[in-house]
Amino acid sequence: MAKRKKSKAPPRTASPHRPAYGMETFLVHGRHHTKKWDYAHHLVPPISSSAAYRLGSAERGALGFHSFAHDGLEPSKASPIYIYDRLDEPVRGMLEESLAEAEQGDFCATFATGMAAVSGGLGVLLQVGDEIVCHRTLYGCSYSLFKNWYPRLGIQVTTADLTKPGALAKALSPKTRAVYFESPANPTMELIDIGAVRAACEKAARKGHPRPQIVIDNTFATPYCQRPLTLGADMVVHSLTKNLGGFGTDMGGAVITRKELSSLLLLYRKDFGGVLAPKSAWPIFVYGLPTLPLRMRQQQESARRVADFLERHPRVRRVAYPGLPSFPQYELARQQMTDYAGAFAPGSMLYFTVKGDPNHILNYIARNAYAVTLAVSLGQTRTLIESPTQMTHATLSAEDQGGCGLEGEGLRLSIGLESVNDILSDLERALAHA
Ligand SMILES: Cc1ncc(COP(=O)(O)O)c(C=O)c1O
Repeated sequence: MAKRKKSKAPPRTASPHRPAYGMETFLVHGRHHTKKWDYAHHLVPPISSSAAYRLGSAERGALGFHSFAHDGLEPSKASPIYIYDRLDEPVRGMLEESLAEAEQGDFCATFATGMAAVSGGLGVLLQVGDEIVCHRTLYGCSYSLFKNWYPRLGIQVTTADLTKPGALAKALSPKTRAVYFESPANPTMELIDIGAVRAACEKAARKGHPRPQIVIDNTFATPYCQRPLTLGADMVVHSLTKNLGGFGTDMGGAVITRKELSSLLLLYRKDFGGVLAPKSAWPIFVYGLPTLPLRMRQQQESARRVADFLERHPRVRRVAYPGLPSFPQYELARQQMTDYAGAFAPGSMLYFTVKGDPNHILNYIARNAYAVTLAVSLGQTRTLIESPTQMTHATLSAEDQGGCGLEGEGLRLSIGLESVNDILSDLERALAHA
């Protein structure tokens, strides 16, 4: 998008929970003390596994129900009264505290999957008669949610190319309550200028309409590479199944936002029921978050090498990786995608198009490769490759795929932790079969 306007979102850097320590240290330790659970004698918090909790007295039970998702109560000051797993649960609660901190937001609610988080986050913002504007390129199931389900709920969806200056302003209407996008977008890696989206939404609000809420799916970047709430977004959603979990063992989702939305999100999750299982929250909290910076640094370094290699390869038509100087939005990437130390952090995801039949490459990989695996999902220790038009984005019609910039020859690559030379050798051999 054109000229960057300064976002009015308050800058958030320090936090009372990690006064003198960096974010990477915080992600390893979390809070040593939390109101969520007294686990002071464990270095690693125990896995909790209890659907219901002993209430002690009728009065305590009544107070627990009364205080759940109560707007006037400050959760960091009072120990929660645990009642039933679907309402609140200690391991999940600790993961939420750390995720809110990692994204520099006030509050986090986790969900069973990334899609439960997308529908939950938007579920508290939208109602019948509202409109949502979304970027034309989205993960296939988010696209399907908007295309197939929202019209049934009486919510009108307008798609626009939010990379184009002025496109959002044209798409906004007095009924627009939310603007939704991924940046980088799955799978094309297009970036959306978050500050410019905020400026357009504020301009719309100055005309007397309520300001549309800016919701971004930050799964591709992870909070290690980009913190959208500090750039002007109102709500961040994640698939924890990906780099935040990091090992490809558990599914999960998260919504991180302002304190004002916390009660609604908790009530929504209680009633719609898509809670994150504590047994899935535990590995994400104990293994995923502490190793996020380490994994992202390694994967990103390999991604840069792979992007360079692909860009020079005669069988490759085009490579989209925000860390390549040839990336059309390279300058925006440098401004928006930074790690906790402020260094450029273009992430571990790539999209490239090949000359020839991409299935020759994929089938060669499926049968012969060791370091690169033909599989969907992304953001884990293993390098994964897939064909969006045939797999993750197959729910889109051919026309819709074309409309959002997807090409049949396009392949999505998620870089893992293998030796980069092995990843390159597998790709080299596979490309020879294109
Ligand atoms: C960008 C993005 N958002 C959301 C999701 C949905 O996450 P989950 O599979 O955990 O529901 C995915 C899944 O691939 C994704 O890539």
